[in-house]
Amino acid sequence: MIDVTLERISKQFGNVSGVNDVNVEIRSGEFFTLLGPSGCGKTTTLRMIAGFYYPSAGRILFGGQDVTNLPPNKRNTGMVFQNYALFPHMTVFENIAFGLQTRKQPKAVIQEKVERALAQVHLTTYGSRRIDQLSGGQQQRVALARALVIQPDLLLLDEPLSNLDAKLREETRLEIKKLQLELGVTTLYVTHDQAEAMSMSDRIMVMQGGVVQQIGTPQEIYNQPVNRFVSSFIGETNLWEGIIERMEGDDVYVRVSPTILLHASASHTSPTCNLRVGVPIAVSFRPESIKEAEAQHTDRAGSFITSLIKVSEFTGVSVQYITDADGLLLKAMFVNLGHQLRERGEQVTFFIPKESVYLIE
Ligand SMILES: Nc1ncnc2c1ncn2[C@@H]1O[C@H](COP(=O)(O)OP(=O)(O)OP(=O)(O)O)[C@@H](O)[C@H]1O
Ligand SMILES: [Mg+2]
Repeated sequence: MIDVTLERISKQFGNVSGVNDVNVEIRSGEFFTLLGPSGCGKTTTLRMIAGFYYPSAGRILFGGQDVTNLPPNKRNTGMVFQNYALFPHMTVFENIAFGLQTRKQPKAVIQEKVERALAQVHLTTYGSRRIDQLSGGQQQRVALARALVIQPDLLLLDEPLSNLDAKLREETRLEIKKLQLELGVTTLYVTHDQAEAMSMSDRIMVMQGGVVQQIGTPQEIYNQPVNRFVSSFIGETNLWEGIIERMEGDDVYVRVSPTILLHASASHTSPTCNLRVGVPIAVSFRPESIKEAEAQHTDRAGSFITSLIKVSEFTGVSVQYITDADGLLLKAMFVNLGHQLRERGEQVTFFIPKESVYLIE
């Protein structure tokens, strides 16, 4: 187990900037996720940590030691590549043993370690199979076993679940998390799937265009996004632009349309937010925070908004409405309690509690 420091690292590919000035400390034993859309620099960051790319600027430290100039095989990291990179003509056993053989370990030790790794990923009886005789999920587990078998100080996983179907993804995600907790190994996990990142990570680093947008726990990223990008990339949200029309103590009123004045709180804002009457501002509120307007809400602070239902989606667990509020797109989500579904064309009055509105500069 080691901690990892990325000290202002950048990677330039010709005149393309892959990663720009990433600065972060990953704690020993932490499950740390790099999250962001395709091309944002996740794989490039991971490859620099593994030693496959040399940073154009900055330093990488493992446990306080500068490893920037060390080749990959001297860093003791286990990596699962985005495409697994297994050897198709070799057996499962040979694939997993490969890293130990290149480290010139004795045969008996290799045998024992590979068997242990196979057991960790529930593939005990598969050692003699060829890779091309395995399912996608089994190949994924071989790749994981191959990374674990060298007892790495640091586990690097690049979209390890991307080739699996939804059900298997969820199962494997739990298995990886359990294994990581058991072994206590510092783990860097790459995904573009925000649900995966939220459910597995101690902390998440959100990237866009090679630049870090926010680093925080899943709750911080979800509840206190620092900017519009993070707010809309993580989970579903209603993101509207407006102008601050009035402020009284903690109460902030934002004009978002000719008929809608949204009631928000001065204490629920992104860190850089500058609240003054007349300034443009974004408001973000989650579809699940919306209530249907009923008498019991009238004593709470918030806004009533009348909206026209455009689409209703029944997912089983929830009901989601896509609606039009004075020309603005408003998404609302309710837990399914078996009530009658609202129909397209119906008018509904929603209640947006003041405390669920988040202001972003
Ligand atoms: N070897 C390379 N040569 C030139 N440009 C590269 C190279 N590798 C990556 N890039 C560019 O750097 C940027 C970041 O790429 P990277 O592979 O890190 O993205 P990613 O976040 O892993 O995306 P994905 O989710 O699609 O895997 C992209 O614009 C990409 O085109
Ligand atoms: Mg990638």
